[in-house]
Amino acid sequence: MTETRQKAWAELRKHVTSEVLLKHCLAVEIAMRAYAEKFGEDVEYWGSVGLLHDVDFEKFPHEHPHHAREILSAAGYDDAFITDVESHCRVWEGERSMLQKTLLAVDEMTGFIIACALVRPDRSLENLEVKSVMKKIKDKAFARAVNRETLTGGAQEMNVDFAEHVAFLTQALAAAVKQPDYQEVPLI
Ligand SMILES: [Fe+2]
Repeated sequence: MTETRQKAWAELRKHVTSEVLLKHCLAVEIAMRAYAEKFGEDVEYWGSVGLLHDVDFEKFPHEHPHHAREILSAAGYDDAFITDVESHCRVWEGERSMLQKTLLAVDEMTGFIIACALVRPDRSLENLEVKSVMKKIKDKAFARAVNRETLTGGAQEMNVDFAEHVAFLTQALAAAVKQPDYQEVPLI
């Protein structure tokens, strides 16, 4: 584990105890790291934004993300980092950066993919096919709280084909679950 990731993970654990929320943050981190690598961006930075994007959610669910700034600045994160974290749940003037668009596009999508894997007989991401995720997208009774337009709209904003987005994230999540960094709180 790099020092940057270690710092972000330790900070997250100070503020989040819920296993469900930790898993969500880890899944978003995995997705952000994978896209950063694909786009030739800073993997550690994108990963840390992903890991910490919901840092204030457990303690302040109704004021999220308004406490992210005080938490993250006390931990030594700079203004640009904090703005990237806050960007996923606030009105934004102008065009979002690629990192910010990606954060929005993976925030709900990663959880949806994991939910699709969990209803498989083998409960595995490895054998999860894009077409079965697509089927679940159309199945309104499945994960009904998840807004489908948010899922597809996120990929559209990134200018990425939705099926490719699903395939890319499924593969990234499936690869990460085997890595040592993701054993402490397993995604599945
Ligand atoms: Fe989130």
